Amino acid sequence: NGKVKIGLMGLGTVGTGIVRLVESFQEDLYKQTDSSIEVSKILVQNPDKERDVFVHPDKITTNPDDLIYDEEIEVLIEVMGGIEPARTYILQAFEQGKHVVTANKDLLAAHGDELLRKAAEKGCDLFYEASVAGGVPILRTLVQGFSSDRITKIMGIVNGTTNYILTKMSQEGLPFEQVLQEAQDLGYAEADPTSDVEGLDAARKMAILATLGFHVGVQWDDVSCRGISEVTQEDIQYGKQLGYTMKLIGIAKRDDDCVEVSVEPTFVENSHPIANVNDVFNAVYVYGEAVGETMFYGPGAGELPTATAVLSDLVAVVKNIRLGINGREMSFPYHEKRLKSPDQ
Ligand code: NAP
Ligand code: HSE
Repeated sequence: NGKVKIGLMGLGTVGTGIVRLVESFQEDLYKQTDSSIEVSKILVQNPDKERDVFVHPDKITTNPDDLIYDEEIEVLIEVMGGIEPARTYILQAFEQGKHVVTANKDLLAAHGDELLRKAAEKGCDLFYEASVAGGVPILRTLVQGFSSDRITKIMGIVNGTTNYILTKMSQEGLPFEQVLQEAQDLGYAEADPTSDVEGLDAARKMAILATLGFHVGVQWDDVSCRGISEVTQEDIQYGKQLGYTMKLIGIAKRDDDCVEVSVEPTFVENSHPIANVNDVFNAVYVYGEAVGETMFYGPGAGELPTATAVLSDLVAVVKNIRLGINGREMSFPYHEKRLKSPDQ
């Protein structure tokens, strides 16, 4: 047993949750990993910002090198968001032999292959459970739980912000802008909420799900994508009168050697369970040839649900450190082989 020092990049919604949980779950984390876990340095943009959680001022830095080149830090948690500088910092961390946990689907969907290849080359772990469906442990489930099946379809609601907006517009008749602001205030939305509203965040998540579920490389820009910016209160009410609920639905289908992935606003019959997935909740249906239909449901965004998903990865990394097997178990693998889309 021993101590594992963590470098945390980002102290926003998710970073704050991580600091809280590492403190309050210390004993449980110790029991599972034989290690006491300490967040020893935290990278932020604005060191003078008032924070929702207490951290000793000595831990706060604006210099990424304080984390990347600190030899005592074994694991880097990246919850800053965005492609750059997150990509560069993570690659530099691998060069230093550090393991990485991230919640960054933008980065994974665009550069997952590169990062996973570098991690493997350096014998490092890279986990990203929190990047899809917030607190729902869907990535491990796909990779490990479905390893003995052949997944034919993955379908669901994978963006909490838009589901929150559609729910409030439908149930309370509230205007789009007001509900978007609420979702931002609650910490659900991306820094630029256009990614949520235009369906890009959901497209990135569907690309990650399809890649892991179908064992092929799916890029997020392969996903046919439409968001909810053009959905009106009239559309929603019209559907309601006919017994339908508007949801932003992602679908990934595989058929022989073709893969098709899309995200679009869809009228769902009220009798279907997914019509009753409300607020920030997400639901992912996975269809396996052997098992048939399965459904996974839970909070898709927010401070503690996302932080606990990040910590589940941290536990996996620390267990690997104890066993000396980091980088060997490619539990979130990359797939270079790409399948054709139906129109190719
Ligand atoms: P956030 O609230 O905007 O926090 C971002 C944090 O990163 C802030 O502390 C910010 O510093 C820091 N930061 C940003 N750019 C930086 C830079 N260049 N250098 C140093 N620090 C920088 O974001 P969040 O909602 O926690 O999301 C973080 C990541 O988790 C994103 O990839 C997001 O997609 C993902 N995620 C979020 C949720 C959710 O519910 N929010 C759920 C799943 C996944 P300052 O505080 O000084 O501004
Ligand atoms: N903005 C994202 C959402 C955060 O609303 O689903 C969780 O990935």
